Amino acid sequence: LSRVNLEIIARPAAILERVQSWRKQGLRVALVPTMGNLHQGHATLVAKAREHAQRVVVSIFVNPLQFGPNEDFQTYPRTPVEDRALLEQYQADVLFAPEVSDMYPRGMDNHTMVQVPELSDILCGVVRPGHFVGVATVVAKLFNAVQPDVALFGEKDFQQLAIIKRMTIDLGIPLKVIGIETVRDADGLAMSSRNRYLSVEQRALSPHIYTTLSAVVQQLSQGQRDFTMLEAVATQQLLQAGFKPDYVSIRDADTLRLPSEQSRKLVVLTAARLGRARLIDNVQVELSR
Ligand code: PAF
Repeated sequence: LSRVNLEIIARPAAILERVQSWRKQGLRVALVPTMGNLHQGHATLVAKAREHAQRVVVSIFVNPLQFGPNEDFQTYPRTPVEDRALLEQYQADVLFAPEVSDMYPRGMDNHTMVQVPELSDILCGVVRPGHFVGVATVVAKLFNAVQPDVALFGEKDFQQLAIIKRMTIDLGIPLKVIGIETVRDADGLAMSSRNRYLSVEQRALSPHIYTTLSAVVQQLSQGQRDFTMLEAVATQQLLQAGFKPDYVSIRDADTLRLPSEQSRKLVVLTAARLGRARLIDNVQVELSR
């Protein structure tokens, strides 16, 4: 049952006006920031947003600031017609779809940047310098443009979520950041817009990522604490399956630091290249002892 009254707003001033009028009526507002090419993972975020708010804004903005010079900004999949159909089906209230010139009217050179230290320079930050500064900056701008009560992000981008939570606290942005469990295809592959870069053969290999992470989690649950060994074995497994892993890393899930004796919640994270695609995934595990 789709409904046709999805409102589309491009100007930051107009979305703020709409949200402020809702909030004056006592309605809670949720924001789901995305880069479009929406899939079931995004649909789940929209559905969850409904549980937290009476009005749901989804933003679609492919943010040039978070792409490196040799990354896929130009070719990032843009599917506006399908995106609108999905948002109607899942009953989002407003699509906020600004142009680059709406978000960066003075251009991006010499723009104020939001830099979240420590968390931004590890894991994916090593291979993608500047990426998380671009993410934190645009998310701060989206938070200010929309001023929602809550914002929802997928846990697939675990490091991104940690950075956004830290930024929101550090800058005192008055909203709640909520992480939502990763949505997977039936064979375990975490949903991602970049999965469409996979050939049929690569798509068939890709569930190895989740299988490998799950095996590490099982070892951790069984009491194995030789993290370096577990990371090395998992890296080797991915290499053998045909991936080029950037890292496999076991971290404290709350701090993303190396686990300490006190760490109770761990997360196993990986980024691995398969052809044109760079796939990331993670699995959390609660230690009982
Ligand atoms: O995860 C994404 O799609 C993007 O990094 C985000 C959070 C929308 C910022 O551009």
